[in-house]
Formats: sequence, structure tokens, C-alpha cells
Amino acid sequence: MGESCVSIQFDRDIQRAGTSSTKFDERLGIFGNANVMPLWVADMDFAAPAEVTHALIERATHPIYGYTLFPDSLYESLIDWLKLRHHWQVEREWIILSPGVVPSLTATIMALTQPGEQIIVQPPVYFPFFSAVTKTDRQLMLNPLRLVNERYTIDFDQLEQVGENARMLLFCSPHNPVGRVWSKSELEQLTEMASKNNWVIISDEIHADLVYPENQHHPLASLAENPENIITTIAPSKTFNIPGLHLSALIVPNKIHRAAITHFFDMIHVSAANPFSIVAFETAYREGAKWLDELMVYLKNTRDHVSAYLSEHLPCIQLIKPEGTYLLWLDCRALNMNDNQLKHFFVHEAEIGLSPGVLFGKKGSGFMRMNIGTPRHNIMAALENIRKAYNRIKIRSGKIL
Ligand SMILES: Cc1ncc(COP(=O)(O)O)c(C=O)c1O
Repeated sequence: MGESCVSIQFDRDIQRAGTSSTKFDERLGIFGNANVMPLWVADMDFAAPAEVTHALIERATHPIYGYTLFPDSLYESLIDWLKLRHHWQVEREWIILSPGVVPSLTATIMALTQPGEQIIVQPPVYFPFFSAVTKTDRQLMLNPLRLVNERYTIDFDQLEQVGENARMLLFCSPHNPVGRVWSKSELEQLTEMASKNNWVIISDEIHADLVYPENQHHPLASLAENPENIITTIAPSKTFNIPGLHLSALIVPNKIHRAAITHFFDMIHVSAANPFSIVAFETAYREGAKWLDELMVYLKNTRDHVSAYLSEHLPCIQLIKPEGTYLLWLDCRALNMNDNQLKHFFVHEAEIGLSPGVLFGKKGSGFMRMNIGTPRHNIMAALENIRKAYNRIKIRSGKIL
């Protein structure tokens, strides 16, 4: 698909400051500088698919916003989406709806493991994976990813050792922040190791739809000979830029696991059904495919522009080229700054609000995560700011450019 036909909708600037947007309106608190260009928390500055907005407006015209249930059509929209986009046939009874993927991780840990039991995570990784383990008093086990030739892979040898007594693995697929879309053979190797060691895997597949055209996402459970020990978390939230509506799904083929997770949600009286989230969820899955295809063309071009810019103008920052997600993992180690200096450089010299790599674990030291879910001219301006700031500090420190 050509770029020109899709760029108009994604090039549009939409004012988000002043809308109680976390990304924009929390800048001062997070960065100590309200002027940074916000390229941090994982939502996008693009309008959601028009079909979703129209459906929400239509729902709002019915002036009663009472207690709400999950209609059959909602489940069907998810089942159809997974079948069409991911070639995965799930059963209606496997689905548990919940108010978000992070709460689902914690609920599943609480429901299926005991305090003190070992849970593996693979850093650098989305930081709530750590707190989901530690705040529930489970034991955190680390299986760091390996960076080889600018590409991250799973260290299966270390995983085998660290997982000897583990109960569970929190898996991120596609992976935030390193952008890997795991290959079929990596996923098969993982499911074999998990079944041999009797681990339960929570496969967080919230980024499953955000995969660049040359890659393919495979739901982990769809590849397993026996998916009974794999719980998948999925949502339209990242895909269609509706994360503020808070509705996600767990796919749980195992009946006993399902009962335990449902019991946990019942115990804390959480019901995710809200008249707006159900409308957005269903409409996005039913009518959002074209918008998503266009989005991925746009994001791919932005990713490639960043890559070219860095090679030409800022070779000291290396892009770990993502296969999926709108999050870029930037290797800034050649800037020769410690993590505090790196934060200071981006926030106060370049005035860009990125997520510091150390947030994702020690292995993220020297890296920064950049969210490119914004009109491309913002990203190009951000890169220019970084280049100018870098030149300024080089001049200040007396180095010739
Ligand atoms: C891997 C991963 N899981 C979960 C979430 C957040 O999910 P939710 O907002 O549904 O809790 C994010 C957001 O960035 C994420 O990257």
C-alpha cells in the first residue's frame, strides 16, 4: 500500500494537552519539564478509527448509562478477529473479560500461584511484569534476553536453569520494549520447555496486531500441542488506540484455571462492562481492519525514517529495529553517559520525553524507549532536537564535530 493515501489521517495534529491525557498532562510530574515532546507512555496521538468514534457517539445519544453486560456479539467479534487475523480458533467459554491486561496479569498470578512461588520474566521488559510478581509476594526469577548483532533472542540455556523450580513464566509477545515478534520456532521451543517443566505461561499479546508487514505474529497457545497451561492476554486497546476505555480479554483454555481467575475477579467485584468500552471493543474488531493496515504502513515508514536519520546524522544512537509495536528501543550506550546523564540530556537538552531504558530492568541501562505513535513530523522534529542538543554538548565539552 502506498504511503500517500494513508498519511493524511495520521499526519493530522490533534491537541491532546488539557484533555487529562496521561502522556501530555503528566509531563511536569514525570519529567520535571512540562515542555518535553511526549514520546513515552504507550498510547498514540492518532484519532481512533472513525467507525469507533461514530459508534460511541451513537451510544452516547441514548442517555442512560446503566449497569451493563457483555453481549454475545462482543465475544463473537473477538473470536472472529483471532480467527481471521491470527488463524487461531478460540472457544467462547475460554474468554474472560477484564478491565485491562495488567490487572489480568496480577489476577492470574493471584489465582494460580502461591506466595513465594517462582515466576520468570525476561528483561528488559514492560516494567509492570516485575511489580506483578513482587507486589504479590512471589519470587522474581530473571531470564534476561540476549542482544546479539542488534537483535534480541531468548537465552534458552539460562531459561532451562532458572526455571528448574519455577511455577510460571510471564511472556511478552510481541515484546515491549525490544520489538521482537517471536518466530514460530522460538515459540515452539518455548512451549516444549514449558510443558517439560510444567510451567504455566501468561502470554501477554497486547501488541499482537501491531506487527510490521515483513513479520508475522503467532499466538503462543495456537502453536502448543496442549494449550491448557497457556493463558493469553489480548485487547483492542493498543491496536486501535482506545486504551483509556479499559477492556481486555484473557483466553484461558483450562477449565480449572478459568474458574480460579473468575473467582478472583468476583472476589474483588470487578466488572469491566461499561456501555462505552463494549461498543468500542466490538466496533474496533468488526470494522477497524482497514484503519489498522493503514496505520502499520504509516508506522513502518516512520520507523524506517528514524533508522535512516540515525545512521546519517546520529550514528552514536543505534536503533534496535522493531519487528512489531510502535515503540523503538534506542541503544544510546555510545553516547557515553550514565543513566542519569542520559535522562537529563533528553529531558533538558533535547526536550524529548522518552522512557528510560533502566525502567525495564538493569539490562535496559544505556537505552531509551521512543514511542513513534504520533504524526511523523513530530518524530523528525524530535530527532532534529536530539541532534542539535548533542552538537551543543559536544561544543561545550570542547570536542570538534
Ligand atoms: C506488554 C504490555 N502489556 C500490558 C500493557 C497495558 O495494558 P492495560 O492498559 O490493558 O493494563 C502494556 C502497555 O504498554 C504493554 O506494553
